[in-house]
Amino acid sequence: MPTITTGDMLFSVGLAMDQMTPDLVRHHTTTAMLTDLMAETAGIFGVRRRRLVKAAMIHDMGTLVGRERVDSTFDHAAVGAAMVSTCAPLADLSNLIRHHHAPHQIDPDAPDAFDIGLLSIADFVADRLRPDVPILLQSRDVLDLLQTSADPADRVRCRAIDCCLEASRSEAFWLSLDLRIATRRLRESLHSEPILDRDGVLSLMHLIGLAIDSKSSFTASHSAGVAVVARALGYLCGLPDNACWRLEAAGYLHDIGKLGVSNDILEKPGRLDDLEVKMIRGHSFMSWAILSEVPDMSDIALWAGLHHERLDGKGYPFQRRGDDIPLEARILTIADRFTALVETRPYRHGLETTEALSMLRTAASDGEIDGDVARELGYYVEDIDRRRELAQAEERWFGRAAREAGNREGMH
Ligand SMILES: [Fe+2]
Ligand SMILES: [Fe+2]
Ligand SMILES: [Fe+2]
Repeated sequence: MPTITTGDMLFSVGLAMDQMTPDLVRHHTTTAMLTDLMAETAGIFGVRRRRLVKAAMIHDMGTLVGRERVDSTFDHAAVGAAMVSTCAPLADLSNLIRHHHAPHQIDPDAPDAFDIGLLSIADFVADRLRPDVPILLQSRDVLDLLQTSADPADRVRCRAIDCCLEASRSEAFWLSLDLRIATRRLRESLHSEPILDRDGVLSLMHLIGLAIDSKSSFTASHSAGVAVVARALGYLCGLPDNACWRLEAAGYLHDIGKLGVSNDILEKPGRLDDLEVKMIRGHSFMSWAILSEVPDMSDIALWAGLHHERLDGKGYPFQRRGDDIPLEARILTIADRFTALVETRPYRHGLETTEALSMLRTAASDGEIDGDVARELGYYVEDIDRRRELAQAEERWFGRAAREAGNREGMH
């Protein structure tokens, strides 16, 4: 049975977005820490507090979708809310995320009103703190800004501002925002979450895959395709059920390191220069680094980290060869290559399965990938490809629905 919790997973995703997305440097971690400190002052504990911290840890996930349109007609909060509402273990975060920029739209007596206020104030403060200035030199100015922004008619926000002023009286409040201290405290408080069942884990991974894929239209729905192909290949290769669903999870997450590669490189037409190639090649190492932080996911982290290795030792980033590459990682590699070949991208149509298979056979005979796994894929390719297409179509539908939620709600 998995022992993965929602908190563990969200902590790592938030940290990955912060470390790898230039506009979000430390943003989720700082917002989550501020929320946690204010909630403590307000006497909020247990499930309610963890819900707030979890929402804070991913509240700007919607910015990954439609990043080309960061303007007033695109509501990233609505997009983030639509995304999490498709995922059962996270659906209860949706209301907090949806309103994190608009507490004034909330009925002050609604059950979530105060929590939304706290999240929006934490976001406001986190947004104004500069990483290059010592924290105690800027805390006064940020509080002044916060107080001048208070609108007495906005009761929800005013109550949260009062809470922030009270919590931030001590220097320790500000000093605790130090990245090391914040990550330790958040990791601990989020770890005490109920353990997810298998469906819960997969639905969470599917959402993270959607977030990764949404970063670029070039890779839209790629992870969902890799996930179903990897799981099917796992069964065909005789792996036990437990390994097969973990392979599906690895498929959703294998490219999480791409969050750190700029779209200018991912979408560059024509040849990449040396530096750009190195940046792209770094993504599988980063996938390993991010995922190996999550308790009970070291196997998934390893397979994801090895998905660009080659049996002849000429892959990257660990330059492993032959038997040092576990079967699950070989399967993930083939699922990734196959999906990349047959999926349609904005700049080219996907290949026919027969063409893709013959390229994989050549790669196998050149000593790059596992010939036995490629052969298994060949026996059932039409069936597997149908499932892949369905999974990718479904994910594109989710992505479109989330984007549309942003357009619609951004209109007013
Ligand atoms: Fe936001
Ligand atoms: Fe990759
Ligand atoms: Fe990939």
